[in-house]
Amino acid sequence: MSESPRLDAALSERIHALCEEGRDLWHDFDIEVRQDQWHSFVAADYDAVQAALIDLRSPGARFLEWGSATGVVTIMADLLGFEGSGIELDASLVRVARELAERAGSKARFAVGSFIPLGWAWSPPGGDGRSGTIGEGTSGYLELERSLDDYDVVYGYPWSGEEDLMLDLMRAHGREDARLLLYTVESGTKVYRGGKLEV
Ligand SMILES: C[S@@+](CC[C@H](N)C(=O)[O-])C[C@H]1O[C@@H](n2cnc3c(N)ncnc32)[C@H](O)[C@@H]1O
Repeated sequence: MSESPRLDAALSERIHALCEEGRDLWHDFDIEVRQDQWHSFVAADYDAVQAALIDLRSPGARFLEWGSATGVVTIMADLLGFEGSGIELDASLVRVARELAERAGSKARFAVGSFIPLGWAWSPPGGDGRSGTIGEGTSGYLELERSLDDYDVVYGYPWSGEEDLMLDLMRAHGREDARLLLYTVESGTKVYRGGKLEV
């Protein structure tokens, strides 16, 4: 069991149990859904994201997960003291996330919809505005009654080539002093603030 010395034992145990259940959910999803049809849900390395969230937490800070899938990271953020919210395009995953939050005793909130705000479109300098695996849907911010610039920490797991879209979206609609936490298979976790990588 990976236990963080920076958390008390009870909280560490709760988060460990959450992540274990999350890994089981991902395993089942992979077999039941992804074997028959392509789906962009792949679970992050929860231990790596947890370590980054512990560094970023401050009481009452608002956390948003872009593409929250089964909700593990948003619920983890909520248990760590953030006000945690997630937006996910796939309504069946949002149902799973809400049930998981209830079992975990978390107040994390989830909206069905897109994390792309209404009216925003990706237009990179090179002109190729394809958004990769990031799907389209009604903006999820309305259901959360918040806009992107209400959040102190925004988290996303971009597929290869999608990181620039997330950085651009944050530049356009995020607060300048907010953190963008990204997890990628290639680099693990990275934190940006004002578009710049923090060391
Ligand atoms: C790579 S998975 C990341 C899952 C989770 N955030 C994690 O870190 O373990 C990407 C998720 O984003 C969702 N997604 C894709 N496009 C979206 C959009 N425009 N708005 C909201 N969710 C989206 C997918 O359905 C999928 O669950």
